[in-house]
Amino acid sequence: MKNFECMALRYHGQYLELLDQTRLPVEEHWLKIQTVDDMYEAIHSLRVRGAPLIGVSAAVFLALYAESGITENDFLKATERLRVARPTAVNLMYAIDEIKKIVHQSFEPQSITQVAEAILDADKTLCQKIGEVGAEYIQDGMGILTHCNTGGLATAGRGTALGVIQTAFEQGKKIHVYVDETRPLLQGGRLTTWELGKLGIPYTLICDNMAAALMRDGKIQCAIVGADRIAMNGDFANKTGTYGVAVACFHHNVPFYTAAPVTTLDFDCDNGLEIPIEERTGEEVQGVRGAFGKVLWAPENAKVYNPAFDITSAELVTGWILDTGFYSQSDVEDGALRRLQNK
Ligand code: MRU
Repeated sequence: MKNFECMALRYHGQYLELLDQTRLPVEEHWLKIQTVDDMYEAIHSLRVRGAPLIGVSAAVFLALYAESGITENDFLKATERLRVARPTAVNLMYAIDEIKKIVHQSFEPQSITQVAEAILDADKTLCQKIGEVGAEYIQDGMGILTHCNTGGLATAGRGTALGVIQTAFEQGKKIHVYVDETRPLLQGGRLTTWELGKLGIPYTLICDNMAAALMRDGKIQCAIVGADRIAMNGDFANKTGTYGVAVACFHHNVPFYTAAPVTTLDFDCDNGLEIPIEERTGEEVQGVRGAFGKVLWAPENAKVYNPAFDITSAELVTGWILDTGFYSQSDVEDGALRRLQNK
């Protein structure tokens, strides 16, 4: 495996290392990933997260695992274990399936590494293209709402929705980003603020439940979010709370975009009802946990519902910003996403 370094993932010839995102922004701690269990735990606990980066890290880990001299049987067991580490982000399944295609021909570590390197490099390029496509829809002076974290921490490149924002900012557009805190795990409050701060892009952090009123008050001119899985009819899964953002945008006539690479399209999924939604432990809603410690404010026996993602239906989406171009509702109704299969 070649040496590489991205914002939250690196390899310098010895171990795969992840920037532990559960500890950000309090501390920048790089975690060594040496076993299948390490990798599974890092994905499952969101130490590494964001749909594209989950796929890339699984691919890179599997390449290094194959290079370590294990048997084909152990390798296949590892692919099955990692595949179920998180169920919604389809990029994980995409990366593992790409690698398994090669293994089905013959188990050669060198070929596996080539596939993993291609997935890593492609993700950077895809982000770049998404940024270029999407920046056209960002005008000077806009207030932009975003949800969760979709930048360099969530991809191997500059990000999806945040990549669009960064590209527009680099084009000299004066923009202001409203960052949804993103309960329960606070990816907006902890991670997107951290990234925007490093990039010098002006932002204001808000609680998720403030966004609708800001739209009514004319502070937000568009919303742009990422995606974890996009169905062929344009419905998509993204961080829980995204649906609420879309509904509020619809009510206030604010354009609502999702930005993602083609690796987030699920060609086997006709509509959002078919997307599996990850349910997580109630503790995440009962309080918070991080480098700052653990605080629970709800009764320990409180009944909790904690779906990590929700589905936004295509009718609420103004446009799908992919690396291959911009797709309107009528494009998607005409089957534009399906036509991207095997391209
Ligand atoms: O649970 P997470 O933090 O992995 O969820 C991430 C998101 O929902 C992102 O919006 C999505 O993966 C797009 S990332 C470029």
